[in-house]
Amino acid sequence: ELERSLKEKGNTETLKAITDLVLEPGQITYTRQQSPLGLGHAVWCARDAVGDEPFAVMLPDELMGDSRLLNQMADLCKSSSGSVVGLLQVPPAEVSAYGVITPVGDRSADGVVRIGGMVEKPAQHEAPSDLIIIGRYVLTPDVFGILEHLPPGRGGEIQLTDALQVQAAAGVF
Ligand code: G1P
Repeated sequence: ELERSLKEKGNTETLKAITDLVLEPGQITYTRQQSPLGLGHAVWCARDAVGDEPFAVMLPDELMGDSRLLNQMADLCKSSSGSVVGLLQVPPAEVSAYGVITPVGDRSADGVVRIGGMVEKPAQHEAPSDLIIIGRYVLTPDVFGILEHLPPGRGGEIQLTDALQVQAAAGVF
């Protein structure tokens, strides 16, 4: 629509800038979270748009240079049939601002580790590790059923981390 409108206006310079982006035709759909009840609730609001297949959650306050990590996570979700969460090792003083995971076993050569559990924004002295959840997830759709019955967690919000803890306890990671 934008391209057609620019063509009609004769705005060739902007039109060229846009067509140079070589965007593939696609579809975008959006849903609104009517009340700020937490990240878990926001994800739950997308359940009908997602349907019954694995899906990515990308929090825009974490910027990635490219899509390599997400591609690796999607491949891992496919091969393991479990949810996958992007992690980062941070100085211990920073963990309390994030979800923090309990690693199980050693990290593989390509940086993958099994997750035994996770907790949302623990105090530094209670944190299970220094591995924090960054804003990238590839999740299996059973998480929607978990979110539906989840009580509010930290900050009185429906926490995605709490739903993923339920998956981790069931061995889904
Ligand atoms: C959310 C998640 C948290 C995660 C963080 C990453 O927290 O709840 O587990 O570590 O994003 O940015 P928020 O930053 O929305 O408080």
